[in-house]
Amino acid sequence: MNEIKTVAVIGLGYIGLPTAAILAANGLDVVGVDVNEGTVNAVNRGEVPFVEPDLAVHVSGAVSQGRLKATLETPCADAYVVAVPTPFKADHSADLQYIEAAARGIAPQLQGGELIILESTSPPRATRHMADYILALRPDLSLDGGGDRPIIDVAHCPERVLPGRVMVELVTNDRIVGGMTPKAGERAKELYSTFCQGEILLTDDVTAEMAKLVENSFRDVNIAFANELSVISDKLGIDVWELIRLANHHPRVNILQPGPGVGGHCIAVDPWFIVAEAPEEANLIRQARKVNDAKPLWVVEKVMAEMEGKERQTEVAVLGLTFKANIDDLRESPAIQIATDLAHRLSTHRINIAEPFISELPAVLSGRSNVVLVDTELALSRSGVVLVLVDHDVFRDLNRQMLSDKVVVDTKGIMH
Ligand SMILES: NC(=O)c1ccc[n+]([C@@H]2O[C@H](COP(=O)([O-])OP(=O)(O)OC[C@H]3O[C@@H](n4cnc5c(N)ncnc54)[C@H](O)[C@@H]3O)[C@@H](O)[C@H]2O)c1
Repeated sequence: MNEIKTVAVIGLGYIGLPTAAILAANGLDVVGVDVNEGTVNAVNRGEVPFVEPDLAVHVSGAVSQGRLKATLETPCADAYVVAVPTPFKADHSADLQYIEAAARGIAPQLQGGELIILESTSPPRATRHMADYILALRPDLSLDGGGDRPIIDVAHCPERVLPGRVMVELVTNDRIVGGMTPKAGERAKELYSTFCQGEILLTDDVTAEMAKLVENSFRDVNIAFANELSVISDKLGIDVWELIRLANHHPRVNILQPGPGVGGHCIAVDPWFIVAEAPEEANLIRQARKVNDAKPLWVVEKVMAEMEGKERQTEVAVLGLTFKANIDDLRESPAIQIATDLAHRLSTHRINIAEPFISELPAVLSGRSNVVLVDTELALSRSGVVLVLVDHDVFRDLNRQMLSDKVVVDTKGIMH
């Protein structure tokens, strides 16, 4: 088995850059590849273009030791780790164009003997698609040595790190490695063993792809249950937080917490990949997506009901825009959807957004004259209605006196 000394990581985002940095910290020579020139330049200066605890120190250390650099062009390497986006299309099927673009960069560099790992969250058979795509460009190579053609080893290794804890969980989480051949799996396991202290579990590529999707669908279905309970409880006039706390005293019940909807790049996206693959069969998974996607509108209606009869001067404070607590990630955030909808429907009212993790509003909000990004104290002091959308620690720790004369709509249950 060829020893891996150099690794090219394609896509230097929330997943690729930490992976590149941890590989470099464990003695590999790593080249990060990204289509975004700003990202490439930032990494080469030893900087991180987004917020992730402990990542900056890893990146600056690896760059200054000469173990990590970034480029726009895919280089020759012993192993490739592909961590590009996999969004969904209008019909909810996965958009594989970024994986195909990464494959187009890799294919000309191959000599045979390389290991190629797809880390992007992928629908079933996307790894095979990537391998077929590469082999169509390079018919002189093969997966099994057939026709005496040199072999490339291809595997899928889904990523399950939690934003905000990526540098810890990269090392401590168990990993699933799905090789297209047993040898590909073994080689990928060996590469991950350089930094992963968790168990590394071998399977085939399609099972590995499904494992990631199933994990996120499990979360989505269970959050949908909590969100449905919150809507039912509101109708019945009971406190859903107390209800769930009490029910969870049952030794075999563990209901999750409701919220304003489900966001992020994973839980709000991945279940659709299963629905797209098995539309007749994936009924519960589809319904959970619908329940969670309906929650933001329900929150908007709740605020609109509280605003009824209030004067024009009444301002609204929106606490939080990110899709979860204590990070700066806005992707698929239900809070943005809610804030945008409110800004539109309350066009004569000022909307004071407090989001301590960002320094400027996203484009959908920044163009609106009635929306401003302000610090939390100012948002609260100006507003008669307070909408809590994210459970950032700074919001949890707020002095409750500041809310005493306000109407509070608390989608996270932190202002009790
Ligand atoms: N963020 C998470 O918490 C998380 C967790 C698990 C899995 N994932 C999965 O990992 C994958 C990457 O997610 P992310 O959060 O790192 O995305 P991201 O948007 O933060 O980063 C992706 C990077 O890839 C770059 N890119 C796009 N096309 C490229 C190409 N052809 N060549 C080189 N670079 C290219 C982009 O410029 C960007 O820097 C996705 O499939 C996602 O579902 C993400």
